[in-house]
Amino acid sequence: MKGFTAVLLIWTLISPSSSDGSSGGSSREAWPTHLACREGGLEVLYQSCDPLQDFGFSVDQCSNQLKSNLNIRFGIILREDIKELFLDIALTAKGSSILNFSYPICEEDQPKFSFCGRRKGEQIYYAGPVNNLGVDIPKGEYHVLLELYTETRATVACANATIISS
Ligand SMILES: *[C@@H]1O[C@H](CO)[C@@H](O)[C@H](O)[C@H]1NC(C)=O
Ligand SMILES: *[C@@H]1O[C@H](CO)[C@@H](O)[C@H](O)[C@H]1NC(C)=O
Repeated sequence: MKGFTAVLLIWTLISPSSSDGSSGGSSREAWPTHLACREGGLEVLYQSCDPLQDFGFSVDQCSNQLKSNLNIRFGIILREDIKELFLDIALTAKGSSILNFSYPICEEDQPKFSFCGRRKGEQIYYAGPVNNLGVDIPKGEYHVLLELYTETRATVACANATIISS
């Protein structure tokens, strides 16, 4: 998990600095591409698409025969309170859209994770299981856009990822 620690350190160092106040014209360079896992015929690369910050993410054991209970690590500095938190996923392959879905992660009366309810400015680090579908990922290259946002539609994190199954 050396890579992950490095990412954590990096985003601690480069966390949101003074914003220039101008809208639209983003001249800053893109965030670096990180490796979330490369194992068992599966490679997952991601890049933050939130202009304000990068974040750390890794999958402990990945495989193109995706298990239904994956252990992940995720670290970020919160830009918003996360009383409620939702995840939107858009999956595309060869330029065509395959599926879109939206998943509630924190709901006010049903917090699924220990970090639900944390406040803006806090640093969260989650290492543990996530429930997902156990599926065999067909060979190919996929692109995924992920967005975490709050009940007011404020972005908490955004990433675009490339998944290569071989
Ligand atoms: C994220 O999107 C950018 C812009 O479309 C692209 O250049 C980059 O390769 C993507 N990164 C990953 C890891 O998919
Ligand atoms: C997913 O959402 C995008 C953008 O709203 C849309 O263009 C696309 O057709 C949707 N894909 C599916 C499979 O519903």
